[in-house]
Amino acid sequence: MPVTIRTLQKYKQEHRKFSVLTAYDATFSRLISDAGVEAMLIGDSLGNVVQGQQSTVPVTLEQMVYHTECVARGNQNSLIIADVPFMGAATLERTLDAAAQLMRAGANVIKLEGGAWLEEAVTVLKRNGIPVCVHMGLTPQSVNAFGGYRVQGKDEAGAKELLEAAITLDRAGTALFVLECVPRGLSAEITANVQAPVIGIGAAPECDGQVLVLHDMLGLNPRPARFVKDFMADAGDIAAAIRAYDQAVKDGSFPAGEHCF
Ligand code: KIV
Repeated sequence: MPVTIRTLQKYKQEHRKFSVLTAYDATFSRLISDAGVEAMLIGDSLGNVVQGQQSTVPVTLEQMVYHTECVARGNQNSLIIADVPFMGAATLERTLDAAAQLMRAGANVIKLEGGAWLEEAVTVLKRNGIPVCVHMGLTPQSVNAFGGYRVQGKDEAGAKELLEAAITLDRAGTALFVLECVPRGLSAEITANVQAPVIGIGAAPECDGQVLVLHDMLGLNPRPARFVKDFMADAGDIAAAIRAYDQAVKDGSFPAGEHCF
C-alpha cells in the first residue's frame, strides 16, 4: 500500500515510529522503498553529497525537479518529500511556483525551511492541495545567517520561539515537521504539542519519525555529525544497511542518547 500523509498521521496516533531517508536517484529510491522506509526526502543536501558543494545554498529549483523525477521513477510505495531550495520561500509567488514544479515532478509533499512566517504559505499551499513539511531548528539554507551549523533553541527565548512557531504552523495545517539539531527536551515537547507527525534529525527519539542523509548512514561522510550512525559498518551490503536503519528507527534503538543534544 502506498504511504500517504494519512498513514503517517495514523502512525503518530498509534505511537508507531516511521523512518525516512534522503534519496537522489532511481536506483537508491528503489532500494530504500523496497526496504519499507516510509518516506524519501529529495533533500537539497544533494548540493553537498552529489555536487560536492560547501552548503545547500547553490542548489537550484531545476536541479531539485530533476532529482525528484529520478526518485519518483524508482519509487514503489514510499511518500516522496521534495525540498524547495534556497530563496524558494522569499515570496509567496516563488513558493507556489516551486511547489507546483516539484509536485509535477512526482513529489507528494514539499518541504520549506523556516519558521512562523511560513504560515501564509502553508495555508495557501494546503488550500491548493499541496501538503507542506516545515523544516525548523538548524535550517541549512540559513548557514550563513547562523554563522555555522549550530544547535538551535538552546536558550529559553530560542526554545519559546521554536515551540510557538511549531504550534502556529500546526494550526495553519502543516502536514509534517522536520526538526534538525534541536535539544532533546524541546524536540519532545514540540512533538507532543503538534498534531502533525514530527521527523527528527539530531533531535529526539521521542519524535514520531527519523531522517538521515543516505550517504551519512552508509558511512560515506568522513566528518559525520554527532547525530549520525553508520549502519554500513555492521551490514553486509547497502540493502542490509538500509534495512538495519529502518528496523532501528522502528524499534526505537536509533537515535540513542549519544545522537541527541
Ligand atoms: O536536505 C536534506 O537532506 C535535509 C535533511 C537533512 C533533513 O533537509
